[in-house]
Amino acid sequence: MVGKDKVRILKKEVLIPEAAIQRRVREIADQISDDYRGDEPILVGILKGSIIFMADLMRAIRIPVKMDFIRAASYGSETQSSGTVRVTKDIELPVEGKSIILIEDIVDSGLTLTYVKKLLEGRGAASLRICALIDKSERREREVLVDYCGFQIQEGFLVGYGLDCNEEYRNLPEICVLRE
Ligand code: IMP
Ligand code: MG
Repeated sequence: MVGKDKVRILKKEVLIPEAAIQRRVREIADQISDDYRGDEPILVGILKGSIIFMADLMRAIRIPVKMDFIRAASYGSETQSSGTVRVTKDIELPVEGKSIILIEDIVDSGLTLTYVKKLLEGRGAASLRICALIDKSERREREVLVDYCGFQIQEGFLVGYGLDCNEEYRNLPEICVLRE
């Protein structure tokens, strides 16, 4: 990691183009529509990074769904995990007896998802699955089973399509990797 006193010049390169993201989102939506037919799952987006993915995903799902959000993160403002998870905004819908699908932008250490999964299971969710746009394996600390995964990548710091670096780049329609 570069010290705060040094100026960082980061270049971004497209890693996953917009069309590939949109194609994959439709495939996942089809899968969820098939798996939950006859049910009405609650999609719980983990703020803020998941909102773009969630907005596209839920419009491509062809069964009734509900939506809610939780704000939880294991990140400070830098590109390293702080190691602790904080919930600063809880969900509002009751989850007892409901089918929950957690929607995450990217699984990195796995700390955030492990924490949120336990929290909602402890409130009596009937089932809980995980849907993540990106499964990044390099820094995994907790084993996380991603039931619906958009793309698997090994390493790198990604931005765009909801993903940020110090709140920048979330609005890019494609996913890029930042390089020094
Ligand atoms: P975890 O608890 O380490 O799995 O953290 C996951 C969260 O860290 C994600 O929801 C993102 O907000 C953030 N994060 C992890 N890797 C990246 C990345 O490559 N780009 C942007 N955000 C990231
Ligand atoms: Mg996030």
